[in-house]
Amino acid sequence: MSTSGKPTGGASLELRGITKTYGRAAAVRNLDLKIEAGEFVTLLGASGSGKTTSLMMLAGFVEPTSGQVLIGGDTVTALAPAQRNLGVVFQNYALFPHLTVAQNLAFPLQMRHVGKPQIAAKVAQLLDTVQLADKGQRYPRELSGGQQQRVALARALIFDPRALLLDEPLGALDKNLREHMQHEIKALHTSLGTTMVLVTHDQEEALTLSDRIAVMHDGAIAQIGSPADLYERPVTRWVAEFVGQSNLLDGVIESIDAGRATLRLPNGTALGGACAPSLRIGERASALLRPERLALSRRGEASVAPAAGAVIDATVIDSLYLGHTVKYTVALADGQRLAVQLSNTGNASMPVAGDAVTLRTGVQSAWLMAASPAAHISSLERAA
Ligand SMILES: Nc1ncnc2c1ncn2[C@@H]1O[C@H](COP(=O)(O)OP(=O)(O)OP(=O)(O)O)[C@@H](O)[C@H]1O
Ligand SMILES: [Mg+2]
Repeated sequence: MSTSGKPTGGASLELRGITKTYGRAAAVRNLDLKIEAGEFVTLLGASGSGKTTSLMMLAGFVEPTSGQVLIGGDTVTALAPAQRNLGVVFQNYALFPHLTVAQNLAFPLQMRHVGKPQIAAKVAQLLDTVQLADKGQRYPRELSGGQQQRVALARALIFDPRALLLDEPLGALDKNLREHMQHEIKALHTSLGTTMVLVTHDQEEALTLSDRIAVMHDGAIAQIGSPADLYERPVTRWVAEFVGQSNLLDGVIESIDAGRATLRLPNGTALGGACAPSLRIGERASALLRPERLALSRRGEASVAPAAGAVIDATVIDSLYLGHTVKYTVALADGQRLAVQLSNTGNASMPVAGDAVTLRTGVQSAWLMAASPAAHISSLERAA
């Protein structure tokens, strides 16, 4: 550990074949996760999917039932949290209420028997980093929620951790403050080079901040990849529904050629699109259509774009005016409802509720993937 200057860069983190059971229930099952030095990885998943348990096993606060934890390539499974030198911001961050901000920050260094002059210098440096240089003598209750969270961040960073583990650090904040803090965390990551693992159930936060996102489902990783991988190329229906807003149409794969496939819908419509590598001809599959990639025009009127792709008749059920965009719900002939999001062009002829419309998918906008459950697909993808 160095107590002067900036952290010396991050360490890699790894969970290898990790299982954690409580009684007969598994919170995490046979999880493999390797985070590279300096990487920003987010664990994204619904409540109870095993995010906190995974993070706490990295930090050393929860002992795995089986499997190994590695930091910087060294096995640390048996090491106590303090010996791992990781900065942690807990889900319900708690500052010591009876200590000032500066005393809160000094605490981890006092625990490590760092000398007083070094502590004072380090506290001043970290207060500066989180832009609270003038708040050192305040008590936590005299700070706003966002300022308290910045203190929690500074306290986690003060002993130059090899990695920073953040469990829903922005959960309690309103939207504006949350976005502001997201920028600050990203800036810290860029300037410090520390490995960061963030837990969140906020997909937008995950998409904005991460190098890679691990989508967790039922104690396992359903998919891990870049934000674009998850949004553009989800391996399963489940991931597609979890990340972003999605329209899913089910059918059967009719042909496959060079990474593209054609899906035949029950109503006879053929939908072409890029496809997951595991798809086979004759297989039941789903097409993912993101709302912002669809075009809508009153039936009979020419559409601006996209010109190619599938053309499907629909009826507008309702529209929601959001200022910069208009969100539509449309119904297909078989009753299935799709979400369509159009940018607000100011065009007077934008469709309204009750209109008969033509929906165009465009050539690039459909993504085809198997309709099978997550475990099946991820094992197929691994084998490929
Ligand atoms: N100490 C414990 N004893 C028993 N069961 C536990 C314990 N800790 C966690 N669990 C269970 O393990 C599962 C995963 O919990 P975990 O806290 O990791 O979820 P999470 O993804 O962080 O959820 P959230 O988004 O709600 O924080 C849950 O079903 C939870 O009830
Ligand atoms: Mg949690």
